[in-house]
Amino acid sequence: MAQDGRALFEQHCASCHAVAADAPPTAGPNLRGVVGRPVGADPRFDYSPVLEQARRGGESWDVGRLVRFLEDPEEMYPGLWMGNNGLRAAAERIAVARFLEGQR
Ligand code: HEC
Repeated sequence: MAQDGRALFEQHCASCHAVAADAPPTAGPNLRGVVGRPVGADPRFDYSPVLEQARRGGESWDVGRLVRFLEDPEEMYPGLWMGNNGLRAAAERIAVARFLEGQR
């Protein structure tokens, strides 16, 4: 059965991330339009040095990078302020990444 990306996002991510247009950042940056935008690009969120550095290095989010990030956020960006809040199941990571891709 296909995973419901919106439900997974509500369950695992929404406590720290808004996706509504123009919603202010909460504990984490607003993720509306995150797919296709540079890493660390919510102008109202104060990112950690590791994400600031990734943005300066020209990195940006696509579905593949998101799926890899969520497998082990700290491994991709050591010192990240998100803790270990990824998703263990690959099918769940893909479903959430696709959900976010649709939020623009
Ligand atoms: C406990 C709070 C918390 C949870 C839960 C959480 N995050 Fe985060 N997330 C953060 C914080 C804080 C940052 C900013 C990290 C930094 O600056 O190092 C972040 C950053 C991100 C980024 C980078 C955004 C950007 O603008 O570059 C993505 C993508 C992301 N989170 C996705 C998710 C997804 C998807 C989930 C659910 C599976 C999730 N997060 C769960 C707190 C959280």
